[in-house]
Amino acid sequence: MISRRGLLAGGAATAAGAFARHETSPPTHAERARVEPFHGPHQAGVATPPQVHAVFVGFDLREGIGGEAVVRLMHLLTDDAARLTQGRPALADTEPELAANPAGLTVTFGFGEGLFEAAKVDSPIRPLPAFETDKLDKRWSGGDLLVQVCADDGLTVAHAVRMLVKDARSFARVRWTQRGFRGGTKGPTQRNLMGQVDGTVNPTDLDQAVWIDADGMRGGTTMVLRRIRMHLETWDAADRVAREFTIGRRLDTGAPLTGRAERDDPDFERKNHLGFPVISEYAHIRRAHVTDPAQRILRRPYNYDEGLTEDGESDSGLLFASFQADIARQFVPIQRRLAEGDLLNEWVTAIGSAVFAIPPGCAPGGWIGEGLLG
Ligand code: HEM
Repeated sequence: MISRRGLLAGGAATAAGAFARHETSPPTHAERARVEPFHGPHQAGVATPPQVHAVFVGFDLREGIGGEAVVRLMHLLTDDAARLTQGRPALADTEPELAANPAGLTVTFGFGEGLFEAAKVDSPIRPLPAFETDKLDKRWSGGDLLVQVCADDGLTVAHAVRMLVKDARSFARVRWTQRGFRGGTKGPTQRNLMGQVDGTVNPTDLDQAVWIDADGMRGGTTMVLRRIRMHLETWDAADRVAREFTIGRRLDTGAPLTGRAERDDPDFERKNHLGFPVISEYAHIRRAHVTDPAQRILRRPYNYDEGLTEDGESDSGLLFASFQADIARQFVPIQRRLAEGDLLNEWVTAIGSAVFAIPPGCAPGGWIGEGLLG
């Protein structure tokens, strides 16, 4: 294999020549239909309208990797992401043609508690408390470093993941990979595998709810990633009335049970002719509702579907990803209310959980994490 060092030293003339050629002939306009900027005060992939495909990779740092090595790793990965998102091959890209169509590619990095420990830096994040409804599997939980790769083309995502993992390999090993997709509707909402319109109520003022305004993390945020399995066989057995009652919204339009259109505000006070609330006390949207817009979480969920088990049961659900300035203040109270009483719990179980600090973005020439580890 050709090492990056070999390439830079001109040790692999042929490959370096091929690489240089690609550097000087950028993809044509048609090929780069959607390009998301990489540099800026915030990392892309948070406020970015969700692309169709996502891969989340959780890494564990290898034994003996400390602060200096992490800085080198983040230099490398930042460089890869800055190139690939703009439709340019990574350095020593083994398949430069696959980089030509960025398809809205974003690469977002997150640091777990273990990374701060390894770098001997105070961690801005803490683990989540335990929730009674969780059945967490180590296989889908934790991780020192997160790489979230999203694009509208599955090939683009696969290639970017391969290049990033190749460069991370000597520093970290892959702990888990979670692949997700969105569909059903265009725009900020999608349909999840339970058939619901998902992603309607989200904060509009991200400076208030999402971006952190404190030294080191200014312009950054935090991420909670939960792998939530859906028990679709029993969900399919429930009738439509029960399913809509569970969420508090209609399945066809996504409108609240008290409204007509998806964006109508739910009326939590309204009673039916028997005097019971139209939107149940235990409906998901009532339990999850937050009145103060500054306390809302930005949900950016993806579906997962790993096919069928030997018994023909679906192995699918939601890769619930949320971004918020403060996990303890914003995410935890919502998750507590859901764990205490949400009709949806009958059909969903969290089987994976991880939290990450999402460092601010960087300027050209900079690297992700510089304000924290530099
Ligand atoms: C598989 C699990 C889940 C499913 C299928 C699901 C589904 C939904 C659906 C259909 C809605 C209504 C449309 C919308 O506003 O997006 C909704 C709303 C919401 N969900 Fe979930 N959800 C799940 C898990 C969670 C979790 C784990 C949290 C946070 C801890 C959460 C927080 C929220 C919030 C904050 C809202 C908006 C509530 C409001 O109207 O103010 N959900 N969810």
